[in-house]
Amino acid sequence: MPNLPVIIKGTKVALTPQQRENVPTYWKWICDPEVNVGLTDAGACMSIKNEYEWYDNNVAKAIGSSVNFDIHEVSGMRLVGDCSLFDIEHAAGTAELGLIIGEKDCWNRGYATETVALLARYPFDVLGLNNVILHVYDFNERAIAAYRKAGFREVSRRRAVRHGALVVQEVIMDIVPGETAGLMDCRTHCST
Ligand SMILES: CC(C)(COP(=O)(O)OP(=O)(O)OC[C@H]1O[C@@H](n2cnc3c(N)ncnc32)[C@H](O)[C@@H]1OP(=O)(O)O)[C@@H](O)C(=O)NCCC(=O)NCCS
Repeated sequence: MPNLPVIIKGTKVALTPQQRENVPTYWKWICDPEVNVGLTDAGACMSIKNEYEWYDNNVAKAIGSSVNFDIHEVSGMRLVGDCSLFDIEHAAGTAELGLIIGEKDCWNRGYATETVALLARYPFDVLGLNNVILHVYDFNERAIAAYRKAGFREVSRRRAVRHGALVVQEVIMDIVPGETAGLMDCRTHCST
């Protein structure tokens, strides 16, 4: 993986374009119950064949509607997660953000916080968008803490949402230019 272009780099994580060869790793993560319990498409542990189809139909064909990155530890460049901006609507100036830190030994090291802070700058500084939204379940306190620290604010809650056997609240958070945690200036550190 040494020749992969680093699109955005922080002090803890570096973001590179997603790779088809990493599909088995993405699949391993989303099929881990401790990881997928917090995902809004939980239960979507598909077959590896379906995961490749998802990659080919969404990530590989994403022209303008999404950007998809692998998350590596800066130290050693181990692949530890993935993240994306999707539903990019240039006319409305909006996008949605999602991420997974799939390697559980990396939780609580600030990787999600830095990833979100860096990734949230990209649509503003590089794509010229005005608002990024995300959806997170209320029980996913680790994720909510990371999103808040990165600059996202809660804007509303959707109540009584079914999530497997649970009925939960879906927290909706968003961010606008100027609210991202000041980790780095994408104009000088990001490439398109
Ligand atoms: C949720 C997730 C992205 C968080 O990643 P992470 O790298 O561990 O997050 P960070 O270390 O940047 O921040 C987590 C913060 O939550 C805090 N935290 C941990 N457990 C917590 C809890 N039970 N309640 C409140 N805060 C908690 C940590 O202390 C940390 O804050 P700190 O830096 O001030 O100490 C990661 O666990 C993950 O990918 N989970 C599975 C997929 C998922 O849920 N994705 C999000 C879908 S919306």
